[in-house]
Amino acid sequence: MSDNKIEVTVAGEGHVKFVPTILQTIEDATKVRGTGIAKRTHEYVEQKMREGKAIIALVDGEFAGFCYIESWGNKQYVANSGLIVAEKFRGHGLARKIKEKSFELSREKFPDAKLFGLTSGAAVMKINTDLGYVPVTFAELTDDEAFWRGCQGCVNYDILQRTERRYCICTAMLYDQDKHK
Ligand SMILES: CC(C)(COP(=O)(O)OP(=O)(O)OC[C@H]1O[C@@H](n2cnc3c(N)ncnc32)[C@H](O)[C@@H]1OP(=O)(O)O)[C@@H](O)C(=O)NCCC(=O)NCCS
Repeated sequence: MSDNKIEVTVAGEGHVKFVPTILQTIEDATKVRGTGIAKRTHEYVEQKMREGKAIIALVDGEFAGFCYIESWGNKQYVANSGLIVAEKFRGHGLARKIKEKSFELSREKFPDAKLFGLTSGAAVMKINTDLGYVPVTFAELTDDEAFWRGCQGCVNYDILQRTERRYCICTAMLYDQDKHK
């Protein structure tokens, strides 16, 4: 990877052509039980790109990774979601680069929001911890119904329903910008 051209940027209209590959990569990852990544529609991902709320990573022009941000509860909360790195590019620090860029974008676009993420993966927990996120209970996250509806596309959704949204496979992590000012 050191000899390859790695670009990690805010996605725009020119990246819409990568949406089918992104969705396929997410779809493949959801088949691994416990992964905890929700499926998204073409329209949703495309809209995120057009709004400047997504990060894309390309290696020599080939799709390598993606994530997006979304605001909830009257912009009081911002979630980083849908992180995916294509299998062949994993293990080279790409997820870390994407998360760092998305952290920067979230703070720039929503300077007063609390940033949060739900994750079941050790890699993401590690990256979030390094960025200053701390684990919290689900009660400390947004109560915006629309956010939680996003979990419906996850293979573990039955657990979230059974526990009345108190627990699931994912760990909630929060970065309170007020505490870092
Ligand atoms: C999780 C995922 C995004 C990681 O991508 P990646 O580019 O391989 O991750 P990185 O190389 O940036 O690794 C980041 C850190 O996590 C560690 N890490 C990576 N994979 C790990 C694993 N399976 N278990 C424990 N630690 C791991 C790395 O060592 C690295 O730590 P370091 O920088 O201190 O050495 C990728 O495996 C993926 O797309 N998985 C499927 C979808 C998914 O689970 N998305 C997350 C939903 S919350």
